[in-house]
Amino acid sequence: MDMIAYGFSEYGGPDTEYLLDLPVPEPGPGQILVAVRAAGVNPADWKVRAGNRKDTVQTTLPAVLGREVSGTVVLVGSGVDEFAVGDHVFGGTASGYGGYAQYTVLNASSTAHKPDSVSWAAAATLPVAAGTAYDAVRSLAVTAGRTVLVLGAGGGVGSAVLQLARADGVDVVAVASAGKREWIESLGARFVESGSDIADAVAGPVDGIVDLVGGETLRAAATAVGPGTPIVSVADPVLASEWGGSGVVRDRTTAAFARLADLTATGVLRPRIDHVFPLVRAGEALALVENGHSLGKVVVEVR
Ligand SMILES: NC(=O)c1ccc[n+]([C@@H]2O[C@H](COP(=O)([O-])OP(=O)(O)OC[C@H]3O[C@@H](n4cnc5c(N)ncnc54)[C@H](OP(=O)(O)O)[C@@H]3O)[C@@H](O)[C@H]2O)c1
Repeated sequence: MDMIAYGFSEYGGPDTEYLLDLPVPEPGPGQILVAVRAAGVNPADWKVRAGNRKDTVQTTLPAVLGREVSGTVVLVGSGVDEFAVGDHVFGGTASGYGGYAQYTVLNASSTAHKPDSVSWAAAATLPVAAGTAYDAVRSLAVTAGRTVLVLGAGGGVGSAVLQLARADGVDVVAVASAGKREWIESLGARFVESGSDIADAVAGPVDGIVDLVGGETLRAAATAVGPGTPIVSVADPVLASEWGGSGVVRDRTTAAFARLADLTATGVLRPRIDHVFPLVRAGEALALVENGHSLGKVVVEVR
């Protein structure tokens, strides 16, 4: 049986993307085949297509784009006891498989059950952006009443960092572009417009930085808050290491994803999804994310 997917056949720009007609994959041991309902769209997707992730992401061309999905289990590989045909699940795609497709393969160890109260679209955004945010907030370990500075606060990861930190009672100073002010303030953070003088904008001590932008934005913020401030950079770990900071160590286990599902079901995490595209228009979805300034999350709806 064949399926429709969206991917690329050579590394390069958006012009390398197209709709693919591929055989439905088969799950191996420890894996499940999922009929995809929704796929999350992330900057990592275009970075893989551009060839920036050749060292870390196993890719056979033509490759299907996307790293995370929600959907219904249609086949179970050997050795999988936790999931059965018909289960509603979400997770990160297994190495060599993509999410912008009618069917994809997940490792059972990186899959969790989707609560009924969490939408297909919201569940599809949890493994990458919300998961990264959770791991970054935990690794920074800033406690209630302390202050964290978030750079790139209005994107997929940043907005989840805001929600998780506020739920922990942490004060958040959130740097983003002007159009995101109202939303960021509604999440209980103090808004600072991108490009402002951080030293002026931050009225008191900063106990940690979560960086989703990197480059000059991180350099300026780290310089402004001074040496010794813990930094976790999702976007630019090499630069963060110049100030003693680090990247984020991801936890992609079933337990971690189940925790994200609970946090969403209980309203602590509220993924904002303003843009939903059908699979045949996945290129428009990725272009929005590649533009770098989308509000919240972008999702490809498959069925
Ligand atoms: N290592 C990992 O496991 C991992 C996981 C997830 C993400 N990431 C990386 O983390 C970064 C953020 O991911 P995301 O999903 O949150 O992306 P996103 O939704 O596109 O958000 C990125 C944010 O960065 C801000 N931004 C972009 N260019 C900027 C600039 N020149 N100056 C200031 N702000 C700028 C944008 O804010 P404004 O629109 O307000 O300007 C936007 O809200 C990406 O580089 C992604 O590849 C890494």
